[in-house]
Amino acid sequence: MESALDYHTARALLDWQIELGATDAIGDVPVERYALPDTAPKAKKPSVKPAAPEKPKKVDPVAVAKSAAQSAGSLDQLKAAMEAFDHCELKRGARQLVFSDGTPGARVMIIGEAPGREEDREGKPFVGRAGQLLDRMLAAIDLDRSQNVYITNVLPWRPPQNRDPKPEEIGMMKPFLERHVALAKPEVLVIMGNISCQAVLGKRGITRLRGKWDQALNLPVIPMFHPAYLLRQPQMKRQAWSDLLELKVRLEGK
Ligand code: URA
Repeated sequence: MESALDYHTARALLDWQIELGATDAIGDVPVERYALPDTAPKAKKPSVKPAAPEKPKKVDPVAVAKSAAQSAGSLDQLKAAMEAFDHCELKRGARQLVFSDGTPGARVMIIGEAPGREEDREGKPFVGRAGQLLDRMLAAIDLDRSQNVYITNVLPWRPPQNRDPKPEEIGMMKPFLERHVALAKPEVLVIMGNISCQAVLGKRGITRLRGKWDQALNLPVIPMFHPAYLLRQPQMKRQAWSDLLELKVRLEGK
């Protein structure tokens, strides 16, 4: 409450009381300090914030892929698991899953990059121009997909405008590729082009890597030029031929 006295009057009255010997400030009315208030002071309610809406949990596509791939006990089950996998953007732009072609259980397994337009249409890997060249290359060393070669790709869906697959797309599809190799049980892997080298060996540089045996997924692996590259650079077919002979020697030596 505001005092009715102005400052100077109040100050003069206080000085006068101190002069008279007042030492404590005492009110006019005595205060019964033992008397309890009628009601206990109310504890302040902690303000309860409404619960924030639950954030959707972030899915780790690689973990989902690993678990789906591991549960597949056969190639058919693996194909079904890949068809059910919804975390790769490429699936939305593709007509269908391109799983494999050739002879499961063959000694040679070829891993290409990703389906192109023809493969997307037919649902089989390497059926376009690059695929026809691949068949001729294989025939030159007495291999044939209908008898002794099994073929798949790193990516089972066609990338839009045949763009290079992104590292995260390769990463999330790799567990399926690893399981694919384990279930197909080849003796050797042929990896065609840089994307396949990246996915299988974790390195690029096909010009340096080609024709040299490496080891991955517990198997001998030989990188080769991709047939689509050979269509653009026919002068490189000489090296491709030498790599095919390297493969032939290996297969005959066993
Ligand atoms: N190129 C590939 O790498 N794979 C195919 O299936 C077709 C073209």
